[in-house]
Amino acid sequence: MANMERANFGSKLGVILASAGSAVGLGNIWRFPCEVGQNGGAAFLLVYLACIVFLGVPVMVSEFLIGRHSRANTATAYSILAPHTKWSFVGLMGVVSAFLILSYYTVVAGWTLEYTVAAIGDQFTAGTDFTAFFNNFVANPWKASLYVVLFMLLTHIVIVRGVTDGIERFSKVMMPMLLFIICVLVICAFSMPGSAEGLTFLLKPDFSKITPKVVLSAMGQAFFSLSLGMGCLCTYASYFGKDTNLMKTAGSVAAIDTMVAFMAGFIIFPAVYSVPGLSPDAGPGLVFVTLPNVFNIAFQGAPVLGYVFSVMFYLLLVLAALTSTISLHEVVTAYVHERFGLSRKVGANIVTLSCMALGIVCALSFGVLKDFTLFHMTIFDLFDYVSAKFLMPLAGMLISIFTGWYLDRKLVQSEVTNEGRLRVPLFRFYIFLLKYFAPLAIGIIFVNELFK
Ligand code: PHE
Repeated sequence: MANMERANFGSKLGVILASAGSAVGLGNIWRFPCEVGQNGGAAFLLVYLACIVFLGVPVMVSEFLIGRHSRANTATAYSILAPHTKWSFVGLMGVVSAFLILSYYTVVAGWTLEYTVAAIGDQFTAGTDFTAFFNNFVANPWKASLYVVLFMLLTHIVIVRGVTDGIERFSKVMMPMLLFIICVLVICAFSMPGSAEGLTFLLKPDFSKITPKVVLSAMGQAFFSLSLGMGCLCTYASYFGKDTNLMKTAGSVAAIDTMVAFMAGFIIFPAVYSVPGLSPDAGPGLVFVTLPNVFNIAFQGAPVLGYVFSVMFYLLLVLAALTSTISLHEVVTAYVHERFGLSRKVGANIVTLSCMALGIVCALSFGVLKDFTLFHMTIFDLFDYVSAKFLMPLAGMLISIFTGWYLDRKLVQSEVTNEGRLRVPLFRFYIFLLKYFAPLAIGIIFVNELFK
């Protein structure tokens, strides 16, 4: 299957923007500020940065080289590199995780779409109880399902157009738009009254706040934010050309992802500190409950500005979520298409329809299915738990062991240096991180998440 005519990303910029599109998502703008808020601000950021550099980038390079070398979907990739072994299980696990994540991620993505519509309709007016607004919306079976279906359709439209005309073309439009919106919002946030306090919270580290729990949360966040362990970047790398510099690409993707996460912090914390009584550790409700309050109260004197700010903010979330759902969809579509010999379109249809069905079930777990639990978790929480906290770290650890210990060192070196054409002075350090640091560190997150 791997030898079938395969699409390729057409340009270096396309490679970087598509991969960064996968990485930049709700993880940066929704999850990251929550984590920063709940883990003490600046101290968390330092640990997070270390995790990105020493853990995220090496694992990302590994995913890239596995994908590009085998030029196949992520499950087949492992059977090509390690025929007749159990390693293909790692790739298959990625496909299953991507499928599960796509189903529940689309629920939150659907919320962002609903909030964009609400913002455009100027519904965030004074006196609204935003906690009730949010709770009513997520519990309404029709609305929540409708937005899952809509979001999945948006993703589908891009996927059926293919790798170059769909993923690459859309990433080239959406990512610059996203970067533009986020820059405008940062400038707005800096001019808000609470900006100094917000920035202090974000930038002045209090080292006494670094506890084992903070370290573990930072590692988990780095992993989620860089889309690792799910086969997304491995699948995208199977469309990379021979001359793509894997280390440099991983560095650029990690840099863009981190920059966007920091910028999201620069928007959200100054905004939160601009309204007395709001707290930066509001958790998952930060973006859906706290921020509408901010738009309302902080911009009382300039409602037009508040309107523009809120529309742009939720549109930003939609764009970020969409480029990530596209990458998750592609992992499963490429697998179904290549593994079962179905056309790409049929494969995409199957994935879209089944994810829609599962997504609706996840969405309903905030309303009619609220009391239906397995292992004391709603379906939404269960999917999140199994994929993000179990399959993802496990896959990440196995990927580093696979590249660091199993794969032939010459093959790894040849991929990373593009058959000797590139000088990669950090190669030995990269191998050290993969062989020892990454498996150990990820192992610790894994055990922590599993047994807490
Ligand atoms: N990295 C994405 C984000 O930050 C989430 C994601 C995880 C996407 C895994 C693909 C795979 O939102």
